[in-house]
Amino acid sequence: MDRVKINQHVSFSKIIQGFWRAQDWQWTPQQLNRYLNELVSRGITTMDHADIYGKYTCEGIFGEALKLSPELRENLEIVTKCGIVLPDSPVNRISGHRYDHSSNHIRQSVDRSLQELQIDHLDSLLIHRPSPLMDPNEVTDALKALVAEGKVKSFGVSNFNKSQYDLLSQCLVCDKLHITVNQLEVSPYTLDAIENGIINHMYKDDVKIMAWSPLAGGKLFDLVDKKASSIMSIVAPLAQKYQVSANSIVTAWLNKHPASIMPVLGTHNISRVDEAVKGLDIILTDQEWFDIYTASLGHDIP
Ligand SMILES: NC(=O)c1ccc[n+]([C@@H]2O[C@H](COP(=O)([O-])OP(=O)(O)OC[C@H]3O[C@@H](n4cnc5c(N)ncnc54)[C@H](OP(=O)(O)O)[C@@H]3O)[C@@H](O)[C@H]2O)c1
Repeated sequence: MDRVKINQHVSFSKIIQGFWRAQDWQWTPQQLNRYLNELVSRGITTMDHADIYGKYTCEGIFGEALKLSPELRENLEIVTKCGIVLPDSPVNRISGHRYDHSSNHIRQSVDRSLQELQIDHLDSLLIHRPSPLMDPNEVTDALKALVAEGKVKSFGVSNFNKSQYDLLSQCLVCDKLHITVNQLEVSPYTLDAIENGIINHMYKDDVKIMAWSPLAGGKLFDLVDKKASSIMSIVAPLAQKYQVSANSIVTAWLNKHPASIMPVLGTHNISRVDEAVKGLDIILTDQEWFDIYTASLGHDIP
């Protein structure tokens, strides 16, 4: 499995496992532990979390599974996110649904994540969503403290557009801190990040892209959906041509982009993970890539 260098301390596996849906899986810690071992044996070592996943439960579910084989920790890169507050947040006394990018909230959220995940540092911390109230100085203060305490090895953002990224990046750089990844929704179904230029902007600054919902959360397989059906009418024959599944073709499509996009898988089915991994060996022709792209756009390119 290829690796992607994030900074001098951290690299990610080219394919990442996401844990947003982990509560729905209803697995015992033993079952999740087995799955983690299966992932690592395939070279998938980067695990994507957020404090709020499963209404603040998913990190704890993972921590219980990891505890069963603590030696696994040194093979993993654990990523989590903070900044969204849900009603009944365990770390924010004032209830409601909002964003909180204050230094206090970020630091408290990281402490809780470390406790839930049963680890002593995060390989990467991401700000989950941009906020109109984000003060970049507050984020910088929090990050400086977290790095100094050894709690965070790299830092990134998620769902940030160009101006939101620029604002935070310019403030961080004064303290020699860097945004290393931007986690964005990217799939053959959702082209916004490709169309609006954010991926190019990240590429220019050597900020790596994690693609969330690479299968559009499973919507690609809903053939009642007109757009999905149009994309799949191109993907299915390609799957036949390359003797793989549609999931492999989606990985191959993302992988052809020069920005070295890392898909964050949401499946909990190891055979679907294998299909995604297989896609890394498939090199689509430019025409095949564009056929999927235009099927998604719904019109031909100019
Ligand atoms: N930063 C953000 O704002 C943000 C937002 C959303 C998600 N994320 C991250 O991205 C990760 C992945 O998101 P996602 O779960 O939406 O990813 P996804 O890989 O696009 O979708 C996963 C879903 O598709 C289903 N699926 C996979 N292959 C299928 C097939 N061949 N036929 C039918 N269904 C299929 C899976 O079911 P099975 O499990 O049964 O295979 C699962 O329910 C999350 O876990 C999270 O870490 C980040």
